[in-house]
Amino acid sequence: MPATIVLGGQWGDEGKGKITDALAGTSGMVVRANGGSNAGHTISTPQGVFKMHLVPSGILSPGTTCVIGAGVVIDPLQLASELAELRARGVDTSALVISDRAHVVLPFHAEIDRGEESLRGEAPIGTTLRGIGPAYADKVSRRGIRMADLCDERTVRADLNKNFEARNRLLTSYYAAEEVDAAATTEALIEAAEILWPFVGHAEDVVQDALGRDERVIVECAQGAMLDIDYGSYPFVTSSSPTSAGACQGAGIAPNQIDRVIGVFKAYSSRVGSGPFPTELFDETGHQLRERGREYGTTTGRARRVGWFDAVAARRVVRLNGVTEIALTLLDVLDGFDPIQVGVGYTLDGKEIESVPTISTDYDRVEPVLAPSAGWLEDITSVRSMEELPARAIEYIARISSLCGAPVSMVGVGPDRDQLVPVGNLTAAAAR
Ligand code: GDP
Ligand code: IMO
Ligand code: MG
Repeated sequence: MPATIVLGGQWGDEGKGKITDALAGTSGMVVRANGGSNAGHTISTPQGVFKMHLVPSGILSPGTTCVIGAGVVIDPLQLASELAELRARGVDTSALVISDRAHVVLPFHAEIDRGEESLRGEAPIGTTLRGIGPAYADKVSRRGIRMADLCDERTVRADLNKNFEARNRLLTSYYAAEEVDAAATTEALIEAAEILWPFVGHAEDVVQDALGRDERVIVECAQGAMLDIDYGSYPFVTSSSPTSAGACQGAGIAPNQIDRVIGVFKAYSSRVGSGPFPTELFDETGHQLRERGREYGTTTGRARRVGWFDAVAARRVVRLNGVTEIALTLLDVLDGFDPIQVGVGYTLDGKEIESVPTISTDYDRVEPVLAPSAGWLEDITSVRSMEELPARAIEYIARISSLCGAPVSMVGVGPDRDQLVPVGNLTAAAAR
């Protein structure tokens, strides 16, 4: 049975955790493919709200194997504490597999992240300061430490020692920062490695075996395609590939083993950190969107920037990622707005442009072409079937589908597990 990718279609926080959780119950496996503890995936259940950073969002579904793929960068201290917290809340975490090839985020990575941000002065990226960029930089520089190395008692102390020595020199001389306490941190890392070791293995083989057994495998991406290192608004991006191609690479799945790519999109837009955002709202409407959508970061608590749906960016993401269906989340947040605007085009220096500018200072100057949709001004949070949705909400969904070039298959009407409405494969034609 082929695999399904769940990816963020915008700048992250689209509700990937909720969609992955919804699919996990009927799947054999959920594999996290990219990113690290910069991610925060929320699942709101009758047992309370769970916030996943490194653990795949399938962990709340008993019997579903959860895999952390080779494309993820793992902070062992964070992962050990996340697992302990889940267990303390009664979650069975035994069906976890951690790729031995996944790179390790070490404590000095966060310090380097902080140092790089301060060197950027007036134009910081606004990273999550979790050390993600520096960890991926070490990976591609071929000086990283992988989970297999961390768990190898023969070499780990020497490897860590060498790393700490070099990085502490860098921290003090180049970043004018404090040294990381190498001895204490090494012991903490080895302690975490002992906890994680039983779960570490050849994840890609485990994933391929599941596909070979005809199990449904969900690949859960972190971040969003507009934050992709190659196709996002560089340099205001993350350091991995939150795309369908990145999902294959990070999970150890071949492109021809994928038959479904679910692009998760908010019914409007949000972005954390700096970078171009043409449809951003700075006015009272923006304030209301932020409050109604509770747009405060899961990982950092930062207020998210908000704006109208950007169909130019979304259409590009649908094309580049082969999105076969859209999960349109947080539609209920738009209950209070009439009209609802949608960014349907871009202008730069007064001229319409067809594509997304490559240079971020150009992208920053882009003005959106907004087109209104009629609002429905009704509470849809208790809607559970397509028939109960107001006609104007269906029109809005159909319009998003038509602008993006993919059908909408499900709609989020609230944070809870049951607040997800299947809408068939809604397209503009089907809605008529
Ligand atoms: P992720 O990183 O893509 O998993 O998304 P986050 O969990 O960071 O952010 C999404 C937020 O929206 C969380 O607080 C979710 O509980 C919430 N959420 C998800 N779907 C819906 C929805 O359909 N309606 C509302 N109101 N909230 C939602
Ligand atoms: P989930 O998986 C939203 C953003 C940061 C910053 C940029 C680079 O929850 O959707 P990084 O720490 O990755 O070097 O920061 O990327 N960012 C996210 N924004 N959701 C996320 O994850 C994010 N992960 C990183 O805010 O702008
Ligand atoms: Mg998030």
